[in-house]
Amino acid sequence: SPHFVYRQGELYAEDAPLTRVAAQVGTPCYVYSKAAFTEHYRAYAQALAGGPHLVCYALKANSNLAVLGLLASLGAGFDIVSVGELERVLAVGGDPGRIVFSGVGKREDEMRRALAVDIKCFNVESEAELEQLARTARSMGRTARVSLRVNPDVDAGTHPYISTGLKENKFGIAIADAERVYHYARELAGVEPIGIDCHIGSQLTELSPFMDALDRLLELHDRLAAAGIVIRHLDLGGGLGVDYQGETPPSPGEYIAALRQRIGERPLELILEPGRSIAANAGLMLTRVMYLKPGEHRSFAIVDGAMNDLIRPSLYQAWQRITAVCERHDVETHRWEIVGPVCESGDYLGHDRPLAIAAGDLLAVHSAGAYGFVMASNYNTRPRPPEVMIDGSEIHVVRQRERLDALWAGESLLPGATPA
Ligand code: LLP
Repeated sequence: SPHFVYRQGELYAEDAPLTRVAAQVGTPCYVYSKAAFTEHYRAYAQALAGGPHLVCYALKANSNLAVLGLLASLGAGFDIVSVGELERVLAVGGDPGRIVFSGVGKREDEMRRALAVDIKCFNVESEAELEQLARTARSMGRTARVSLRVNPDVDAGTHPYISTGLKENKFGIAIADAERVYHYARELAGVEPIGIDCHIGSQLTELSPFMDALDRLLELHDRLAAAGIVIRHLDLGGGLGVDYQGETPPSPGEYIAALRQRIGERPLELILEPGRSIAANAGLMLTRVMYLKPGEHRSFAIVDGAMNDLIRPSLYQAWQRITAVCERHDVETHRWEIVGPVCESGDYLGHDRPLAIAAGDLLAVHSAGAYGFVMASNYNTRPRPPEVMIDGSEIHVVRQRERLDALWAGESLLPGATPA
């Protein structure tokens, strides 16, 4: 990323040296680039500008209020999956009319709140959910605008944990049933079908699965149109994959041009729900080497960041680039296992990484802006790390490191329990 570059052997985020960030907030910490977020969002918005569209940023990738406020100011809509995410958008003054609500298990109270603020659309994933939404809307004297999330049964060719468009997945309504459910939805009081939605998976680096899915959605669209069911928008779900390890995903421009070409003259608003491609390479995690444990078989660099802070390597065997923040030439390059302090063998950030490092050095774990902080936990009673947004040379702490006593603030002793 042009926003995280080395200058005279030292890694910067925009115009801020990462050593300065670490000195100010400590490690581990997440560091984001405002310019990178802006650029990644605009790549979608500009590519879509030729027709009716909405970029609904998927909050799940990174829901820090500073990120949401920035994207809202650029005109983004939002894809939410919980009432918590809805309240985050409202907290930054985001427009409910630009929110779509995804997810297989929306609770009734979540539906109610979303109906009360009048979100743009619910992406409904089953008939049972459609009926619940209709009942809830009727009880409020409202009509919910809905898309049915159809499962087009295409193989996204990505990691099984993040592939969602095959018929064996829990997601969506089988494409073969979709037409019938649209007819049902049309007759059902309390809901109004206005869109067709799908999401086939994440970290896709080729266009063909997206195009296969689109073709199936367009066939469905045309059958519905022939039956007099007017669809106003197509929502193709998450965005493109990113470069973690030299992958070369298509650009939003190429992707959207290909979509628009197939959509042709159909007067459809195009909605996308990108998360990773906006956030991943707009952030990194800084961690400090605490101890080196060279060994015959394996050599370990024990760092202060762990799986609770960044779980993607442990959970998905995900590879994220790790570099030393300050290049050094006084020690040999050696292959290191980059591991954290958590008591699990699976607690690692990288395997077998060639690095020239010494105890006390700072490391950057790249591409950590998406599915990084949001997936952090307090395992081992470790406070979640702070988040920093860089703007030029300015360092804005947009979330403080969690305080230790906040970790047990909601807990209580049993009555009468006193230390012996
Ligand atoms: N829309 C829906 C309905 C989704 O389920 C997702 C991601 C997105 C949009 C955003 O997709 P993206 O543009 O980020 O590819 N934790 C995993 C990724 C899980 C993605 C889940 N759904 C990871 O760290 O790789």
